[in-house]
Amino acid sequence: MQSSEQPAILSLFPEGSSVVDGEIAISGVHASDLAAAYGTPAYIVDESALRQRIRHYRDGLSLRWPNSRVYFASKAFPATAVYQVMSEEGIGIDVAGGGELVMALAGGADPRDILVHGNAKTDSDLKMVLDAGVGLIIVDNLHEVDQLTALVQGTQDVLVRIRPNVDTDTHEAMSTGHGDSKFGMGPEETRRAIDMIQRSKDLRLRGLHVHIGSQVFELDAFSESIKALSEFGEFEIYDLGGGLGERHSYDDPAVSVDDYLDAVVQAAKDFLPPSSRIILEPGRSLVARAGVTMYRVVNVKRGGKTLVAVDGGMADNLEVSLYGQRFEATLSNRFHGEELVSVVGRHCESGDELIDGVHLDSPAAGDLLLMPVTGAYCFTMANNYNGSLRLPVVFVSDGVPRLVVRRETYEDLLARDVLVPPLQPKR
Ligand code: LLP
Repeated sequence: MQSSEQPAILSLFPEGSSVVDGEIAISGVHASDLAAAYGTPAYIVDESALRQRIRHYRDGLSLRWPNSRVYFASKAFPATAVYQVMSEEGIGIDVAGGGELVMALAGGADPRDILVHGNAKTDSDLKMVLDAGVGLIIVDNLHEVDQLTALVQGTQDVLVRIRPNVDTDTHEAMSTGHGDSKFGMGPEETRRAIDMIQRSKDLRLRGLHVHIGSQVFELDAFSESIKALSEFGEFEIYDLGGGLGERHSYDDPAVSVDDYLDAVVQAAKDFLPPSSRIILEPGRSLVARAGVTMYRVVNVKRGGKTLVAVDGGMADNLEVSLYGQRFEATLSNRFHGEELVSVVGRHCESGDELIDGVHLDSPAAGDLLLMPVTGAYCFTMANNYNGSLRLPVVFVSDGVPRLVVRRETYEDLLARDVLVPPLQPKR
């Protein structure tokens, strides 16, 4: 039975989540059933919601600008199953380096639908992507033009990445379009790169690229970066980057995919040739809301500030300690909490706090705690701090869960060790 009064926090869960018989169900499956089957902590992904978001982006862009393509910035959730979903939905893949290329190909991506990023692509990265036959390489710097010229056999399509000198409202570490950014080239170098590539017989210059940062809500900043592209002449392809912010907490603004598409396409109409092809490469705004992290409460300390300690933390979610990202959370079966608590992780570091101040309903050891909007960059930056095992990923679609990444094991922790024989005791 579905309760008539749905808690406010559901607005941050994957669309289609609901409260059924007093407990949150993701794509129709109760959190407690997922915990019983797969254990905690775990990343849960609503596959139906993910596919819906991909289609919304893909169709929304092509409706507004038919000569266009969406590419998934795969650094946001580089799991083979996610690459597979993206490819099945017919969008391209953005990879940064050989590792993401390997996973994209394992997920079934057509190499011609892959574009390649990186501010320091090594010869080995470049050889790998050239051998695979990728569609586009985004040239980041002048040295890369020389590297490519030496390595390319036949011809390779490329774009040139500009640094538009546009600042954004995001965290400093996620801003990439300002004048001192390590990504892309300033106007003078951009012109030189364009000239060098146009004179090369191995490289075919198809257009330009710009990306100003991540978790950006300021639509004007995107428009400004598109205007910056128009200063270098007219090209066939413009890759306008990714970066649209996703609402992680009640405090974040809600800027929809449609608001964003309206703004970037308007700027493209204002500043770019009407016959050009437009590429968008979103990461976070494709995957963030489809993901929920499920933790078990290990203990609760009361006295001072109430501290709810869970069985995960900064090893599965670095967003908080690296960028101060604010998340919300709820117990899986009690929603209208009055008790102000902080949710802390299990790692030996004071900064291992997942949420500083959230209302929960009488949390106790054994409760299941759900943190929504964790589908972007959490899996990506997971680590083994304190020997933690990296989390499984469980897809749920129309009431059916399936494991797509298994939990790491203690054997995995030892798997890369190359042991020397033990020291012989001295006589
Ligand atoms: N294109 C390029 C060239 C990028 O560097 C990025 C992200 C994207 C597209 C996708 O941006 P998105 O749509 O996901 O915002 N580690 C940070 C995020 C860094 C984003 C890096 N580049 C985090 O954990 O939040």
